[in-house]
Amino acid sequence: MSARLSVNLNKVATLRNSRGGNNPDLLGVAEDVERFGAQGITVHPRPDERHIRYADVRALKEIVTTELNIEGNPCEKKFVDLVLDVRPKQVTLVPDTHGQLTSDHGWDTIKHKGLLTKLTKSFQSAGIRVSLFVDPVETMVEGAKETGADRIELYTEAYAREYPRNPKRAIAPYVKAAKCANKIGLGLNAGHDLDLTNLAFFATQIPKLLEVSIGHALICDALYFGLKKTIREYRVLLR
Ligand code: PXP
Repeated sequence: MSARLSVNLNKVATLRNSRGGNNPDLLGVAEDVERFGAQGITVHPRPDERHIRYADVRALKEIVTTELNIEGNPCEKKFVDLVLDVRPKQVTLVPDTHGQLTSDHGWDTIKHKGLLTKLTKSFQSAGIRVSLFVDPVETMVEGAKETGADRIELYTEAYAREYPRNPKRAIAPYVKAAKCANKIGLGLNAGHDLDLTNLAFFATQIPKLLEVSIGHALICDALYFGLKKTIREYRVLLR
């Protein structure tokens, strides 16, 4: 089974917001992205709504036919309320802070065990699969399991940074973390800075990778190749 490709649409919303109108049309892009072969749509609304707006998430729920994955910081009540109201297939909890440019670290699943356990239970009761964003560190993976979460999303920025210099060294902690997750029965997602150059190696080395969520690089590639061809290329690399 190859890992599913979930396309993060934040960059599409950023482009739309830059002119105040509705071009590009986020919902139209989501439909096309699915038609071109994406197996999921990811959005990461932030409190300042500088890219994905809360209204976008509600509208997407109505039209997404694959899997909707909402990422975000559950310390924001507005985020938790949104997720419980929209009921996506999956929520990915990310410990980012106000005004942060992009996610830059995973959870300390031991320190925040109480909060994560409580949130996980409440999302799961609403029928939502829960994934926790974590660094590739075994104790954090084990801590994620303790919260009752269904999956983890491995934060791949460090892999992407090291990959051009030394692919084997770059992947090593991720293989260890993945094996740990496999062993204790946690599902495995991954994301951040994955692209056409580093994705295939990651996907072949990581056992039982279920899903990757990719935004920035994929949208940049689409400027050159078009969305349809780009999504096909990413899907081919995941096979
Ligand atoms: N996963 C999480 C938790 C993220 O915050 C992001 C960026 O919004 C991604 C994955 C996708 O990262 P990228 O845009 O670099 O592909």
